[in-house]
Amino acid sequence: MEKFQMSIDKMEKIVSLCKRRGFIFPNSEIYGGLNAIWDYGPLGVELKRNIKEIWWENTIKNRANIVGLDSSILMHPKIWKTSGHLDHFSDPLRECKTCHERLRADHLEKDNCPLCGGPLTETRSFNTMFKTFIGAVEDSASEIYLRPETAQGIYVNFTNVQNTTRMKIPFGIGQIGKAFRNEITTGNFIFRCREFEQMELEFFTEPDSAHKWFDYWVEERFNWYLILGINESDLRIRAHENTELAHYSKACSDIEYNFPWGWGELEGIANRGDFDLKAHSTGAGKDLTYFDELINKHYTPWVIEPSCGVDRVILTCLLNAYKEELDDKNNQRIVLKLDPKLSPIKVAILPLSKKAPLIEISKKIYSEISKDFNCQYDDTQSIGKRYRRQDEIGTPFCITIDFETINDNKVTIRDRDTMKQERISLDSIQKNLDKIY
Ligand code: GAP
Repeated sequence: MEKFQMSIDKMEKIVSLCKRRGFIFPNSEIYGGLNAIWDYGPLGVELKRNIKEIWWENTIKNRANIVGLDSSILMHPKIWKTSGHLDHFSDPLRECKTCHERLRADHLEKDNCPLCGGPLTETRSFNTMFKTFIGAVEDSASEIYLRPETAQGIYVNFTNVQNTTRMKIPFGIGQIGKAFRNEITTGNFIFRCREFEQMELEFFTEPDSAHKWFDYWVEERFNWYLILGINESDLRIRAHENTELAHYSKACSDIEYNFPWGWGELEGIANRGDFDLKAHSTGAGKDLTYFDELINKHYTPWVIEPSCGVDRVILTCLLNAYKEELDDKNNQRIVLKLDPKLSPIKVAILPLSKKAPLIEISKKIYSEISKDFNCQYDDTQSIGKRYRRQDEIGTPFCITIDFETINDNKVTIRDRDTMKQERISLDSIQKNLDKIY
């Protein structure tokens, strides 16, 4: 119980740190907010970009048989009928007859409202796709949807990509983009949002080797979280029971993280079989088979799909990095021990005085280092307070310029994690920042 309370406190502390330091803000806050939608501030946007870049590099850039795509959020409405989302992308909904709270039926422990105890309606199916209209007329013929997953944009471009790249199976198409779901219940900060981002790969294989590639991608994707510095003991792989499988799925394994409220899904790796390409082939009346020159045969490729949510990865990195500890003067410090690759700011430049010539020297250092790394220049308040601020946002290195610098051409470099301070010459700064890569 005590451990659980500590974990819940940790979530509250992270939400507060994110707001205080400019990582994540409640959306439309000055108008009272919009539930389960969040805005990324100046530091949050850098953290997000770093995570997306590491995914892109690891999944697409470093692999000769995978290419990228950026398909649109709005798509032809028939796509969602064909893909099965119109009929199956639903959650079971019950509503309280007294307070009118809407609840996920499968999350309820009792047969009455958990908020006011009131009676509940019968369960009905609630489609979680957001509907909107295209063009000037708002009638049923102009109804379209905000995509609930980025994957369909890849399937409908399968032939375009294959024809233009002449990729041979096995090959993959990956993309990063926004997805929207009108979730009935939300919460746990950015874990379950109504607008979020996905990083998805559709990996097309020959039917008989799909099983082998499924195992390959489960392992690859698990290892990716280790590259981000996530503790291995807080990660696990969970294979889905047959009853849990999505309408398109032949097999699925989730990579889960040990969140403060328990194990939760970070990413799903699904074997979607030939469901999607076959369905779109029928729905659009177009041939979406692949001609395999090696066996001189046409077939519909099978698909292995690793799909993860950017926002959930961000929350995981923050939870994994957040530490409270004593500093060298026995004061409590909050520190985000983010892997340096993820840190929004890599180096803080801290002149001890706002006077010349320290300012000139500091600005010169800033302009040199900022060619390679995101830097922050801070000359306000005591040096102790400035170190605390940088610790809290996860900056791996602080460089302090003091009056001695004028005589010895040396600065002090401070390591975030060890708090060790070292005097180094100006021309060796770059070498000392190697750890960031
Ligand atoms: N194309 C397959 C697909 O969309 P999913 O399991 O529904 O599969 C994939 O979603 C990932 O997207 C999840 O593992 C999760 O990380 C993220 N995700 C899904 N719904 C989310 C939500 N409401 N808020 C934040 N992330 C979400």
